[in-house]
Amino acid sequence: MSDETEKTGKTGEAPSRRAFLKGAALAGGAAMVPASVRAEPDPLITEVQPWAQFLGEGVDARPYGTPSPHEAHVRRRHVEWLTADPISSVNFTPLHELDGIITPNGLCFERHHAGIAEIDPGDYRLMINGLVDNPLVFTLQDLMRFPRENHVYFLECAANSGMEWRGAQLNGCQFTHGMVHNVMYTGVPLRLLLQEAGVQTSGAWVLPEGADASAMTRSVPLEKALDDCLVAFKMNGEMLRPEQGYPVRLVVPGWEGNMWVKWLRRIEIGDQPWHHREETSKYTDLFSDGRARRFTWEMDAKSVITNPSPQAPITHGPGPTVVTGLAWSGRGTIPRVDVSLDGGMNWVQARMSGPSLDKSLHRFYHEFDWDGRPLLLQSRAHDSTGYVQPTKDQLREVRGVNSIYHNNGIQTWAVDETGVTENVEVS
Ligand code: MTE
Ligand code: CO
Repeated sequence: MSDETEKTGKTGEAPSRRAFLKGAALAGGAAMVPASVRAEPDPLITEVQPWAQFLGEGVDARPYGTPSPHEAHVRRRHVEWLTADPISSVNFTPLHELDGIITPNGLCFERHHAGIAEIDPGDYRLMINGLVDNPLVFTLQDLMRFPRENHVYFLECAANSGMEWRGAQLNGCQFTHGMVHNVMYTGVPLRLLLQEAGVQTSGAWVLPEGADASAMTRSVPLEKALDDCLVAFKMNGEMLRPEQGYPVRLVVPGWEGNMWVKWLRRIEIGDQPWHHREETSKYTDLFSDGRARRFTWEMDAKSVITNPSPQAPITHGPGPTVVTGLAWSGRGTIPRVDVSLDGGMNWVQARMSGPSLDKSLHRFYHEFDWDGRPLLLQSRAHDSTGYVQPTKDQLREVRGVNSIYHNNGIQTWAVDETGVTENVEVS
């Protein structure tokens, strides 16, 4: 463990405590957890409970399963003051209620610029036009006759954490980081559809367009379109949800969510970018000198501790405590995440668990013995290119505070003696 413990500041842990942690790690995490011992007989053990006294519902009671009513608090939420109207708004993923790396379909954050388009799959059409030899129109059935691929990818809105540029604001990782989801897509490589249409040699850019009232057009370089973009119709095995673009959306792995056009109706091939509204007045990064960065497509490496966090405080008092969170990068995988308990002065390498997939969420854990003193929890992602997630101050030095988009700075949660957790910043 000492190899993994990188000392960057003044207040190092006392040797005895470090030795204890090392011993505990060798003995295995489970050895740290005491079993619950009760002096009195527990009626939950000694008495037959209602669920064992009566027969339950039969197999026909739930043709499409939904979560237990005890999980009703696990839901998407929006921030009232953030947008004027729910038809152009966002409902955030409850990251603090989830584990592993896959986001359940009903909990994927949803971001619409003109509400949810309701499309009958029989009326669905996808047109490819512009600089192609054969302009084509596909029905949904046509698309399903092309070879398909399955890939797990995260989708992060460029505006995720956008409210935090000037300081800590929203109290919960659902609101600070919940514009991300991670699902397995089934779809046809866009490359195959473009081959069918025959892109002319002058073709260099692709313009996907949505069928909803916002149209949502973005310029995508042909190179990316031919590389790993998918025309997807399934998420986590079932048809896309209406919120996610039913019946077909574009998947643009690792790139900002705005480009993942939902209710995809048309793809135009051109020889230069279009510079439409969503890539000029919106989704460009404004610097402090007034200049704007033209395109910022890739999502930089980022991480967040999901538990504990303001909506999921520590409720069990001192002793064995599990810290967990998510990390991702638009440029590859996440081989390593560091966790700090003291606001970034000391770092410990977290334990990764679950598949490490390209451009997908990664899950990390750090188990430790909480002494009941206040904590300043942080996580720091390293991606497979060697890039290390910056602090918010490092980000502001380069980008200023005019930005909304692409805030991948290190998040801090302050935990007090009672376990109550709050969004703060340390400098
Ligand atoms: N596509 C269409 N047609 N209309 C939209 O409003 N919103 C974009 C993108 N694609 C949008 C769209 C934005 S800003 C994001 S972040 C993602 O879709 C959100 O995808 P989700 O709703 O599946 O989370
Ligand atoms: Co977005």
